[in-house]
Amino acid sequence: MTPLEVATARALTPGCAEVLHLNHAGASLMPQPVLDAVISHLEREGRTGGYEAANEAAAALAHTYNAVASLLGCAASEVALTESATRAWDAAVYSLPIAPSQRVLISRAEYASNAIALLQLCQRTGAEILLVDNDQHGQIDIEALAEALAHHDVALVSLVHVPTQSGLVNPAAAVGHLCQAAGVTFVLDACQSVGQLPLDVTELGCDVLTGTGRKFLRGPRGTGFLYMRQALLEQVEPVMLDAHAADWIAPDRFTIRSDARRFENWECNLAARLGLGAAIDHALSWGVTNIAARSERLAAGLRARLAEIPGVTGHDRGEHLCAITTFSVADIDPTVIQQRLRAEAVNVSVGTASFARLDLPPRGLESVVRASVHYITTEDELDRFAECIRTIASAPAS
Ligand SMILES: Cc1ncc(COP(=O)(O)O)c(C=O)c1O
Repeated sequence: MTPLEVATARALTPGCAEVLHLNHAGASLMPQPVLDAVISHLEREGRTGGYEAANEAAAALAHTYNAVASLLGCAASEVALTESATRAWDAAVYSLPIAPSQRVLISRAEYASNAIALLQLCQRTGAEILLVDNDQHGQIDIEALAEALAHHDVALVSLVHVPTQSGLVNPAAAVGHLCQAAGVTFVLDACQSVGQLPLDVTELGCDVLTGTGRKFLRGPRGTGFLYMRQALLEQVEPVMLDAHAADWIAPDRFTIRSDARRFENWECNLAARLGLGAAIDHALSWGVTNIAARSERLAAGLRARLAEIPGVTGHDRGEHLCAITTFSVADIDPTVIQQRLRAEAVNVSVGTASFARLDLPPRGLESVVRASVHYITTEDELDRFAECIRTIASAPAS
């Protein structure tokens, strides 16, 4: 991105004047077109009625499906809109067939909500979770995955593309390639990668992909989406249905709709959905490849700055690192660091073991500071951030 494009993107982001925001992995700062889409629809609902406003906005609401499809390289009929990435993931995974003798393969990057759902599903079905360990780089071991696929009856492979607790980018396309060769369903959690990395479901080889609106896509809270490959869609009956997902055609009969919206609710926050569409349009207008190049360069610069500060340890591992940076400062609890930064209008978050049981505790970590940049971050902001951390590290007790 050119300096002019970055300046324009910042000028379109009211939050840039208020905070030094390094919490895009938590929830980003919405740009003005997203705020306008959400607020104007809510105002219209207030003035004319919710159903009437929905009718007026029908074309824009339909566009959100097309926007997700453009972002992921899929058909709009393969997209369902949800209220979060977790609900999208649950809607798909709870509906997939899992037999008692089967294995569910996961990696060390597995996210808490996915892990909890899989534990429950395995308790119910008698299937077993099998952990595919990391390789020497700290990412999923592709050879170990190939072995597991060759030796077990596998119901599905669940991979988190970019974990919540580190800068790692897992080699998702290599996993997709192996799953396709083995004929095993591949579920990709792209919650932290969508909006910061280019994604194409054909290249990734995934059957299911889930994402959220509020993080690197810079959309509103309470938005998420599910992609399910058409061939799988036709075989998978949602675990829950309503009168949007299915038609009540006779007192004793119903038919399920054929597209991915079979996984949706009838009722939803339409203003937020319009905001999601605007956020995707905004990301596509900059180009996700350009966004990735800039944010990866900024994050590398942040890691380099932090590495020079006495007492700071970086925790990102992997061959490919992204916009998320994790670190700790000797003898200072990450939550205290977060609070001290917040007092300076600097936003970061804290990654904890309870969200990353298979990754942080085995590395001897209970929690880490997570600073996540985006294309609207500037070098000056990173200099200021590094100075804040240097001050905190040099005066731990103050
Ligand atoms: C890797 C990963 N997966 C899933 C989720 C859940 O997303 P949501 O809160 O939209 O359900 C998160 C949230 O932080 C995440 O980091």
